[in-house]
Amino acid sequence: MICLTLSGNTLASCLDEIKQNRAYIDAAELRLDLLQEEEQQKASSFPSMTDVPVILTLRRKEDGGQCMLSEKERRQLLLSALDGDFAYVDIEEDVKRNDVEQKAREKGVRIIRSFHDFSGIPDDIYSRIYRLSERGDIAKAAVTPHTIQDLLTLFRIAEELKDVPKIIIGMGDWGIPIRILYKKAGSLLTFACSGEAVAPGQVSAKDLKMLYRADQVNERTGIYGIIGNPVLHTSSPLIHNMGFHAINYNAIYLPFLVDNVRIFFALAEYLKMRGFSVTIPFKDAVLMYLGNISREVKQIGACNTVVRMPGMWKGLNTDYYGFLQPILKDIDSGRVRSALVVGAGGASQAVVWALRNRGVKVTILNRTVGRAEKLAKINLCEYDTLDNASKYEGKVDLVVQTTSVGLYPDFDISPIDFHFTGREIAYDIIYKPRMTKFLKEAEKAGCTLHYGSEMLMDQGKLQFELFTGYHYPKEALQNL
Ligand code: ATR
Repeated sequence: MICLTLSGNTLASCLDEIKQNRAYIDAAELRLDLLQEEEQQKASSFPSMTDVPVILTLRRKEDGGQCMLSEKERRQLLLSALDGDFAYVDIEEDVKRNDVEQKAREKGVRIIRSFHDFSGIPDDIYSRIYRLSERGDIAKAAVTPHTIQDLLTLFRIAEELKDVPKIIIGMGDWGIPIRILYKKAGSLLTFACSGEAVAPGQVSAKDLKMLYRADQVNERTGIYGIIGNPVLHTSSPLIHNMGFHAINYNAIYLPFLVDNVRIFFALAEYLKMRGFSVTIPFKDAVLMYLGNISREVKQIGACNTVVRMPGMWKGLNTDYYGFLQPILKDIDSGRVRSALVVGAGGASQAVVWALRNRGVKVTILNRTVGRAEKLAKINLCEYDTLDNASKYEGKVDLVVQTTSVGLYPDFDISPIDFHFTGREIAYDIIYKPRMTKFLKEAEKAGCTLHYGSEMLMDQGKLQFELFTGYHYPKEALQNL
């Protein structure tokens, strides 16, 4: 089940939240502690106002809630709310058997026995979950992974407790994969928010249902993803999941925040992942774990696509292909014979290689000239410092911006001071924002522009083919 955590402070606003999210959810959690005091008193009427099963929760401050009542008052409030037809009630692990539990059992309300750890994963998590489930209740552990190793540990614990009715929540950004793959973890439900997250790392109900189709995941679902740090801002989940939906392919693609590539490979084995995308800063770091690499990866020295092959992982590069597609005609027609590439970092490697591979004369400009020199030597091209940019005005057909300068949120800066003549093609590989300062300058001069979003889409399309064996469906493009 996808369960919406209601964040309203009145019953009416909570109902509204359910209405807005009704198409995406199977249950809702009424957080009594977030309601105004007079509304709390009327909570028993809530379940009959909606058609979804409702969990009753009155979360204490120390467990991440707002309730400051004494335990006695808290029990009273829960008892009176239980007059209503709640499907579940959340009772914390340390609360002794009491009248709330008794009333719930009498009424056939299922008990969720919960514990929270906002600092990490407790060493005794396994035995605690097991113990909580012993009386036939649903055990709920909301804990905080801080590393990819922690996330792997959570998945392993979930597997060991396969037959135990439970909910395992990974709070914060590191826990997002186990929130999305809740069915793989054997959790009864996952908690979602309607917009703003109520708890750290929550994913919206709409994304869980429509983007990830988290409730459709089954034994046969192929798992794909993207690794990076940071990674949660990327558009790749949108591109790939929309593609899967359009061709009815049973697969899911999700973001993995990673701090250690070696351990991620262990997680990928554990989840039987079929492939994943690689973004900054791991495009080099993955190389040593690959059993097979393509010619492009070998020559570029960076890998952005990893696919499973029998007994090994294979690394490929679709960045160079994605970069080339929008300007391929111009290169083939001879319109682009020379290029200035601004930047000599990771992103520049694939760009320079792609251009050189097509016979374009390239000059690399970089703030740190040593890096430009190194990349230029590998790819047999020229190099210079950024300060000399004006030397190349009017002398090149294409200017490519590959640095991180101008990236959201610092979008009003450009790495070079360059006067375009208007004849150049200007290409910025930054896709957020679409229109960078660099491109604005080029537009003013009347240049043809190419955007990072074009490269992103084209590299994603080829990646989709490598992942699935199918062309990227046209129908999916309309939804992007
Ligand atoms: P990525 O993998 O995103 O390319 P990177 O390898 O750190 O990241 O490279 C970033 C690129 O942006 C480099 O070319 C870097 O120039 P330096 O090699 O001199 O560091 C460039 N860059 C970053 N900040 C810059 C700035 N403020 N001005 C000019 N260039 C900058």
